[in-house]
Amino acid sequence: MEDQPTPGLPEPDLPEPNFLIWDDGGTERTARWYGTGPIPTDIRVVDDSLKAEDAYRLVNRGTTMLWRGDYHNARQLLSALGRRIPGPRPEKRSGGKKAEREPDVGADFYRHRQARSRRSRLLASILVPLAPGPAVDLRRGPDIRAAWINAHGPITEASVVPLQDLLGVLGAEQWRVRGVPVPALSASIHPHYGTFAPIRGEYLDLVAGETLPDTDTAFDIGTGTGVISAILARRGINHVIATDLSPRAIACARENLDRLGVGDTVELEQTDMFPTSGRAGLVVCNPPWLPGSANTLLDQAVYDPKSRMLRAFLTGLPVHLEPGGEGWLVISDLAEHLGLRSRADLLGWIADAGLQVAGRSDVKPTHRRAADPDDPFHPARSAEITSLWRLTRA
Ligand SMILES: C[S@@+](CC[C@H](N)C(=O)[O-])C[C@H]1O[C@@H](n2cnc3c(N)ncnc32)[C@H](O)[C@@H]1O
Repeated sequence: MEDQPTPGLPEPDLPEPNFLIWDDGGTERTARWYGTGPIPTDIRVVDDSLKAEDAYRLVNRGTTMLWRGDYHNARQLLSALGRRIPGPRPEKRSGGKKAEREPDVGADFYRHRQARSRRSRLLASILVPLAPGPAVDLRRGPDIRAAWINAHGPITEASVVPLQDLLGVLGAEQWRVRGVPVPALSASIHPHYGTFAPIRGEYLDLVAGETLPDTDTAFDIGTGTGVISAILARRGINHVIATDLSPRAIACARENLDRLGVGDTVELEQTDMFPTSGRAGLVVCNPPWLPGSANTLLDQAVYDPKSRMLRAFLTGLPVHLEPGGEGWLVISDLAEHLGLRSRADLLGWIADAGLQVAGRSDVKPTHRRAADPDDPFHPARSAEITSLWRLTRA
């Protein structure tokens, strides 16, 4: 079943069809552009004879390479470029005035993100051709059919994609097929391409362990894979309404909830934040945890521009709670340790919304990066606490 295309998969959330135009030995060629970044204009057709140092020079002067050689050689070239393009470096502080030496972790984090996105832009400079099938139109191209159709739908014309993006599609398919084990469900959740994978289970243990208010109805705002709805349904809530803005998330949640046998308990609605009508005795939301711009599909699950979703949840919560109902906000304090949001900001938004904190459960995350002393943000990550805030009307 996992190898088959998903029936009813929504249209790809890529920009409108766009076309790449290039000169191939005096002949103008076009192909549909499947990249997530802007359409490149300075294109050079290259093959296996291109050396990594020449590719690096081309990338640095803004030239994008359309690969016409062997697929595996293209992958090797991408790895070689990856070794040459510098990644983010920790800020060095020495000497100078005291103020200049003080760490500004928020500014460092911003620079780190900038460097990562520059590197990612440069690595998107190797393009591979795709043909209807969908297939990689190169020697020794892998079978991409199921992965591509699941991520973007069928291909009907000659197309082009950055190799890096194609590898992302193939990687996402692995997650979708294998699933992510969720101890709180004693089952696996199967994320789709572009949906938030519940890899860090600690926040789900909080949802599974908190005492439920006395209610039959819950809302799950921004359901993603449907994992929180599945936990609530398994815990005995009779009627859950789960929302998400993303059509991919709605399709993914439907598949997971049906697979887990709770599809009849959970209603799905593609909408902005709260269901279009009604109130619930429990309203749960796990918004992206860091304020910041979100330029890619994956960023959208991690970064909440200007804390929009967090604030929309808090301001909308009182009118969507039944009398005596509870809102559960699941969020970590990493943003506080990175200087991106303060505890006073969060408490201020809670109070301004007419809410009060009825309780809070905390857990220390155990993910790999929290324990990695070489991570440039180790002090912030190792101090991180994930919390479930129980909010009621003031
Ligand atoms: C951090 S993910 C959490 C997903 C899931 N609830 C979980 O805990 O694994 C946030 C989710 O909110 C969704 N989202 C973002 N903005 C939204 C909005 N304005 N209305 C509804 N959903 C939104 C995203 O598409 C994403 O699926």
